[in-house]
Amino acid sequence: MLEHGVVAGSAFCPQDVAALQYRAPRLAVDCLTQALLGPHHAALILDVACGTGLVAAELQAQGFRQLHGVDGSPGMLDQAQARGLYQCLSLCTLGQEPLPSAEGTFDAVLMVGALSDGQVPCSAIPELLRVTKPGGLVCLTTRTNPSNLRYKEALEATLDGLEQAGAWKRLEARTVDRWELATSELEVGPGTSDSDGFISGIIYLYRKQAAAQAEGGRPGPQPPAGL
Ligand SMILES: C[S@@+](CC[C@H](N)C(=O)[O-])C[C@H]1O[C@@H](n2cnc3c(N)ncnc32)[C@H](O)[C@@H]1O
Repeated sequence: MLEHGVVAGSAFCPQDVAALQYRAPRLAVDCLTQALLGPHHAALILDVACGTGLVAAELQAQGFRQLHGVDGSPGMLDQAQARGLYQCLSLCTLGQEPLPSAEGTFDAVLMVGALSDGQVPCSAIPELLRVTKPGGLVCLTTRTNPSNLRYKEALEATLDGLEQAGAWKRLEARTVDRWELATSELEVGPGTSDSDGFISGIIYLYRKQAAAQAEGGRPGPQPPAGL
């Protein structure tokens, strides 16, 4: 089923994942599965900013069968649809509109490769929490190279604020040196791993607290404007 909501712009980032040695989907799914309780086939998963469906492919390989996806790009959703792995795909631009799901719907919510300037703003994070079941998991990734450090700081302020408010508990923050290959000089700098051209990244894993349900998953400070 492909659901169409508010129309967003064209594709954000069609990149050659093989050339970039882009491993984030597998790393995030591995991180999630280590903490997820219960049988994989029974878990309802939301893949936010799903792109072409690389995360769904990794989830499928791990035995997950109930997959929903959202993305702000109709072109990306078309490619995700072609994989045939999602039960439901929806057009949704995070930061501009709410996720098209009721509170407490999903056992786990992932967002991989979309937390950076010009993509999903930090202000969208509480929406991910809202649609997660109490006790459910939220898995997020971002890059830790120099050009993304300002965004990462704002993101961590948002994540920490939600934890201080009792909305969720951090289970893991796993740094990964060889995240993906840098694509421009701007990405290369002190945060670049060794001299092999890779930039670094990080995977965050949170468990939603039961108390957050009463708050609607909305506590915590707002990130700086524009992030
Ligand atoms: C680098 S791709 C990652 C796709 C996929 N998660 C993966 O890891 O292969 C980033 C995706 O985020 C989507 N995206 C960026 N900003 C968005 C926003 N504000 N709302 C919804 N989707 C967004 C893009 O359309 C794109 O599909």
